Amino acid sequence: MRKADFEYLATFLKDSSGLVLTSNKEYLIESRLLPIAREAEVEDIEGLVGKMKLTRSGPLHDQITEAMTTNESFFFRDKTPFEMFEKVILPHLLKTRAGTKKFRVWCAAASTGQEPYSLGMQLDELAPRMPGWRQEIIGTDLSAEVLRRAKLGRYTQFEVQRGLPINYLVKHFTQVGHDWELSDKIRNMVQYRKLNLLEDFKILGNFDVIFCRNVLIYFDQETKAQILERMVRQLSPDGFLVLGAAETVIGITDTFKPLKGCRGVYVPATADAERMMTSAVA
Ligand SMILES: C[S@@+](CC[C@H](N)C(=O)[O-])C[C@H]1O[C@@H](n2cnc3c(N)ncnc32)[C@H](O)[C@@H]1O
Repeated sequence: MRKADFEYLATFLKDSSGLVLTSNKEYLIESRLLPIAREAEVEDIEGLVGKMKLTRSGPLHDQITEAMTTNESFFFRDKTPFEMFEKVILPHLLKTRAGTKKFRVWCAAASTGQEPYSLGMQLDELAPRMPGWRQEIIGTDLSAEVLRRAKLGRYTQFEVQRGLPINYLVKHFTQVGHDWELSDKIRNMVQYRKLNLLEDFKILGNFDVIFCRNVLIYFDQETKAQILERMVRQLSPDGFLVLGAAETVIGITDTFKPLKGCRGVYVPATADAERMMTSAVA
């Protein structure tokens, strides 16, 4: 691959999705973009870049951005965030939102839906503890293709074997051929929307909880800070931010602080963290 083409693609991807490509990622570009080059009837990456340069944006550009994203996800990924949700976050919400009996959760890089649906199944399990409560779960992602799959709620045998407790599989899924289809009940608990985290997300409104997991790792410090600083404005003053296992706010922004003893959970810097822990279940 020519150096100039690599640099053109790296700049384009940084601007379109935040993805930072280091120079040893040429193999990644080739494996993900050569099939698109062939579809676009050009021979190689040079030809593809040539096609891209004909217009500033369009379906080919979107296809390239989407192809370069990493969409891996699985049910109840890393377990701890979901334990924190049940033992720390939910008890606080149930206590402090008892007047309205309502809260909103945003999965900001929802990919193929396993994360929002894990929360949906968990909330369904906890429903007896919260009669009359309504919750909204919004899943967003940059990629239209993963959102299409998320809405479909159909998973392969391999996907349901990764992290999904067997009792949830039995309770919420039906086997269809080789795949497993999620029940309408859980699917209807989540609404999806296409959204690029680099762009304005005020339109989504305010949230009590934001799951933003395993996406910031692909961005540089400045982009991470910029996203987190806009996220804090969409979060209640006593809301929770949940990041992925390899992610943190430390050294990036001081608008959030870690919630002591709760790995991966952060609260706005101005929040009364001690009070937010008083309802936590041991
Ligand atoms: C590795 S998946 C994480 C899925 C899920 N949160 C989890 O932890 O299992 C990362 C997702 O982030 C999405 N993504 C990448 N850049 C994005 C951006 N700028 N805005 C919104 N979503 C983005 C990708 O399309 C991908 O589906």
